[in-house]
Amino acid sequence: MILRKSLVAAALATAIITAPIAAALTSPAAFAEQQQAKGTVYILATGGTIAGAAKSATQTTGYKAGALGVQTLIDAVPRMKDYAKIEGEQIANIGSQDMTTDIWLKLAKRINELLKRDDVTGVVITHGTDTLEETAYFLNLVVKSDKPVVMVGAMRPATAISADGPMNLLDAVRVATDPESKGRGVLVALNDTINAARANTKTNTASLQTFSSPEVGAVGMITGGKVRYYRQVEREHTTKTPFDVSKLDKLPRVDIIYTHVSDDGVMADAAVAAGAKGIVSAGSGMGSIHKDTYPALEKAIAKGVVVVRSNRTGSGFVDAAQQWKDCVTADNLNPQKARILLQLALTQTSDPKKIQEMFDKY
Ligand code: SIN
Repeated sequence: MILRKSLVAAALATAIITAPIAAALTSPAAFAEQQQAKGTVYILATGGTIAGAAKSATQTTGYKAGALGVQTLIDAVPRMKDYAKIEGEQIANIGSQDMTTDIWLKLAKRINELLKRDDVTGVVITHGTDTLEETAYFLNLVVKSDKPVVMVGAMRPATAISADGPMNLLDAVRVATDPESKGRGVLVALNDTINAARANTKTNTASLQTFSSPEVGAVGMITGGKVRYYRQVEREHTTKTPFDVSKLDKLPRVDIIYTHVSDDGVMADAAVAAGAKGIVSAGSGMGSIHKDTYPALEKAIAKGVVVVRSNRTGSGFVDAAQQWKDCVTADNLNPQKARILLQLALTQTSDPKKIQEMFDKY
């Protein structure tokens, strides 16, 4: 505990020393005026390694994620005030493996409320990296604003030597305040790289360069403190989707079934028995399904359960050639993202043809 406090204090002291001399010389009234002119960025904290604490400065695994509060994260990076007035709110403080639909809905509703305000430039969400891609894609489909929403995390706890969280957080604020970030949907900023929510995925359990967008690539970089974009986001998102969280307090159950050698229908039967309204098949290759699993899926479809064919390879698409019965094909959405789109689609319709149109669009 003492070590954790001294490490956080050391990080804070370093950050304060590096704060711009100009800011220190500005009168409090002039400084407040400048901040107002810059607009406000809200940091909504949910936990994760970026708020993680370990027993020693060299411990980078087995630490506690979601141990530090949002104000500690903000205090450690005073340079963020060069870009905006910074406000923090604690939405949750968990390891992101424990993320829930309830937290998602609370987060999305709060973001939509904040972004309606003229004084709010953008929102930054601190989040564990494990399920960050899922929260990012969910928000990408339900946020109703063109203003920047930027997700950020870290791979090393805040107490580690060379913790990556403070620089990632500063970069996230740079992205959230850059006018070029508008209209690109939810963005993920980590390790100098900006990925768009739909394609972004965690690719490594421990490396600092864990997020990437297989096949389509990152949308931009942050180098020398400058935000640089290299491509647009083509798939529709945020204001162009029909999904409205203001009317939702839960999402329909959708289960993912991961295929393997000697697979059978046990998991599909169990999903239906648990009340699933949808099943995402994480198929092999281009979404292939074991011959012994088909009968259970056929029974599920007959009961009105919507089945989406995705794949377990980590990249690539499942196309219309894999259409079987009334199945939907997931394009290049990975299973965990196909699950989110299917959950939201099921709030509007259970017609597989209409749901396929959504998968072709979002
Ligand atoms: C988590 O996802 O909360 C733990 C892992 C991380 O943030 O990197």
